[in-house]
Order: sequence, then structure tokens, then C-alpha cells
Amino acid sequence: MKLQNQLNAAFSLLLLIILTVTGYVIYSLIMDLLIQDEQRQLEQKGEILVNALSDRYENQHPSQLQEFLKEQDLQLFLYDRATDTILLSTLPDRVVQGFTRENNLADTSKQLWEYGTDKFVTSRILFYPERTNLELILLTPMSDLRSVQHNFFVRLLIVFIVGAAAAIFISYFLTNRLVTPLTRLNRQLKKIEERKFEEIQPIEATGEIKDVARSVYDMANELQRYISTQQIFFQNASHELKTPLMTIQGYAEGIKEKVFDEAETEKGLEVMVTEVARLKAIINEMTLLAKLDSEQEIYHPELVDIDSFINHIVERALPMTNEENVKLTYEINEQFTFRIDEEKMLRAVLNLVVNGFRYAAAEVKLTATKNNEQIVLTVEDDGKGVPEDLLPNIFHRFVKGKSGETGLGLAIARAIVEQSGGKITVGRSELGGALFKITF
Ligand SMILES: Nc1ncnc2c1ncn2[C@@H]1O[C@H](COP(=O)(O)OP(=O)(O)OP(=O)(O)O)[C@@H](O)[C@H]1O
Ligand SMILES: [Mg+2]
Repeated sequence: MKLQNQLNAAFSLLLLIILTVTGYVIYSLIMDLLIQDEQRQLEQKGEILVNALSDRYENQHPSQLQEFLKEQDLQLFLYDRATDTILLSTLPDRVVQGFTRENNLADTSKQLWEYGTDKFVTSRILFYPERTNLELILLTPMSDLRSVQHNFFVRLLIVFIVGAAAAIFISYFLTNRLVTPLTRLNRQLKKIEERKFEEIQPIEATGEIKDVARSVYDMANELQRYISTQQIFFQNASHELKTPLMTIQGYAEGIKEKVFDEAETEKGLEVMVTEVARLKAIINEMTLLAKLDSEQEIYHPELVDIDSFINHIVERALPMTNEENVKLTYEINEQFTFRIDEEKMLRAVLNLVVNGFRYAAAEVKLTATKNNEQIVLTVEDDGKGVPEDLLPNIFHRFVKGKSGETGLGLAIARAIVEQSGGKITVGRSELGGALFKITF
């Protein structure tokens, strides 16, 4: 069953239950209200009549009184409490006898009298002064009230039916507005499943569905980016592996066919050894990257003192400073400890330092600062800086500049920093070259 139909069915059922209960309660209450109202009206009429009758009763002959009462067009008894008899009535004698037979007229607490199959609402008004013991009793048959009750109920039913129809119509309209965006969103999800990212269109929605749609688009964008970086990665990787392999193949075939002289063969073997070493290095770095990205267990965080961390970097980088003729300086603004996997983080920062050595004119500078819980490590140099066109993708795998090597160093650094809960960015240094900033 469609969601919209389910919602409408549930709403209609609920409405039906509420209306039935309300209808039943009103129907049963209405009779009590009608009886009370009828008694009040009878009482008002009775009091006026009693006032009018009081004088006449003293001065007029009973037959004149009877005449007067008949003119009132009311069903009434004139009852004498003392003798428990009905003195006068506007009803036929036969009916009066029936009432006397079926009801105890002396019982004033009984408000409904029976006669035949019908019941009557009664109202009793005493004449004043009380010692006359005269009572006027007015009657209305319940059948009159029942027809009022019935009329009222029919109207109530009509109001309920019209109201329910309007409510169901509105609910259909509202659920339609609610469900349509979901159907549209589903269509967009199908496109994501089929990887037709260019065909995805935004949908109009409100509230939580809008948030879900937003997340779906973000997810689609992320997925699209992931797929394309993955493709680029494979292209770059195969290119990167193919070049040394072709060199090795060229020399190997040349040596086998004996086309080289002794010196050339010696040179060829040398190149093959270096290329194999390079291939091994690339494959090692690729394996490391895959592990860094996917295996959380290879990280072993521990509390590390910033001083000893910087010392380790300097120790390892020192041999290179002589080689490259660049000096390595450092600055620590405050002593602190932080939780990292020291070996991995050393590797990340060293990758930045080694790059710095390669591109610096004379200096590579390391700084460590801590401001309000934020730890910042920077590596900068006084070289030419990162070329503009490389900037957006510099941390991607196999992205490298003209004098670059494999283009995996920064990708490895980023993987380590991100897995340790930090962020790495690149910018321009005041020294003139590149500035890499790691923030925790
Ligand atoms: N300090 C720097 N100054 C200028 N350019 C830089 C600097 N650091 C990196 N780059 C540029 O970014 C590219 C990518 O650097 P990355 O370290 O990822 O790879 P790589 O150094 O070429 O190779 P390797 O994988 O051996 O580190 C470099 O090739 C270089 O063009
Ligand atoms: Mg590098």
C-alpha cells in the first residue's frame, strides 16, 4: 500500500472513531438537556398560570375554571394533595384515569410519568399559600422531545459528514504534498544508483525532507568526487608504474638480444636496479597509503612531548641539511604534550620537511604553537612556493610538480594527519615559499 494511502486511511479511521464517539455522547446527552429544558419551560408557564388561577379558584365556579384551562392549549392536571385526587384536567377522562392508575401521583420526586407506551415530562407548581394543598401539574409527552432529538441528530450527522469530507480532502492534499517530494527523491536516488550524476536535479521540499534531500545531494557529490579521484588514481598509478617497467623491459631485451656493448650493458643493469628500487618504493608507499586510509589499528597514539617530537625531526633531517645546503630552524612557543602516533606523525612532518629542502633557497622553518586547546604545527621555506595550478589538488595521490618525484608524499602526510584527527592546509609563507599548516 502506498504511503499516501496508508496515511489517509489511518487519518480517516481516526476521524471516524472520534466522530462516532462524539456523536454517541452528544446523542445521549441531548435527551437529558431536552428534558431539563422542557421542565424549565413548563415551570415558567405553570407559574404564570398559577398566578392567574389563584384568584379565579376562590371566586369562580369549577366549570368556568375548566373552560379557562381548556383555552390554554396545555396538557395539565389540577391536583389536590390532601385528597390525592385530580380536580380538573384538560385531558380526556379516560387518559386521566390511566395516569392515576399507572403512576403514584403523591410521589413528587418522580419527574417522568408513564402512560401506555409513552413517557411524560412533568412539572409541578404549588398554589400559594401552601395550605390550599393545590398543585398544578403540566405534562409534555417524551415523543415530542424524541422528534426534536431526532431532528437535532440528523443535522449533527450532516455537519459531521460535510466536516469529515472536508477533513479527508485536506488530509489528501497535505499528504500529497508530503509524499510527492519523497517520490521525487526516490527517483533521484535511482539516478545515483545508476551513477548518472549529471542528471540529478534538486527537488522542492520543506522540513525534514528538505534536509534529507540536501544530505542526498551532498552524498551524491561526495560519491561522484570519490569515483573520479579513484579513476584518476588508477590512471596515475598505472602511468607511474608503467614508465619504470618500460625502461627495465627495454634494457632487459637489449641485454638478452646482446645489442649492447659491455659498457652499455653495465649502464643498463645499473638503471634497471635503480628503477626496480624506485618501483619498490612506489609500491611500498601505495600499500602504506591504503593501510593508513583503511586500517585504524595501525595507529598507536601515545602522549608525546612537543620538544622531543621536534628533536626527533631535526635528528632525522640533519643528514639532508648538509646534502642540500639548507638550514633547518625551529621555534616552540609553549611546552605541551599531545596524543599522536609518533612514528606516523614524524613521517608526515618529515615528508613536508623533505619537500621543503628540495624547494627552499636556504631555509626551512618548523614552528609549534598552542593557543586555547588548538595545536598548530607549520613547515615553511623560502623557495618559490607551490605552483598555482597544483594548489587545489596538491594533497591528491600522484599529483606532483615539474621537479617532483612520485607525488605520494603529501597524500601520505594528509592521510596520517586526518586519521589522527587533524587538518592539513597549504598556503604562502612570509619567507616567500610554501607554508604547510597542521592543526589539531
Ligand atoms: N615546499 C614546497 N615548495 C614548492 N612546491 C612544493 C613544496 N612541497 C610540495 N610541492 C609540490 O607538490 C608536489 C607534490 O608533493 P609530494 O610530496 O606529494 O610529492 P613529491 O615530493 O613529488 O614525491 P614524493 O612522493 O617522493 O614526496 C611536488 O611535486 C611539488 O611540485
Ligand atoms: Mg615529497
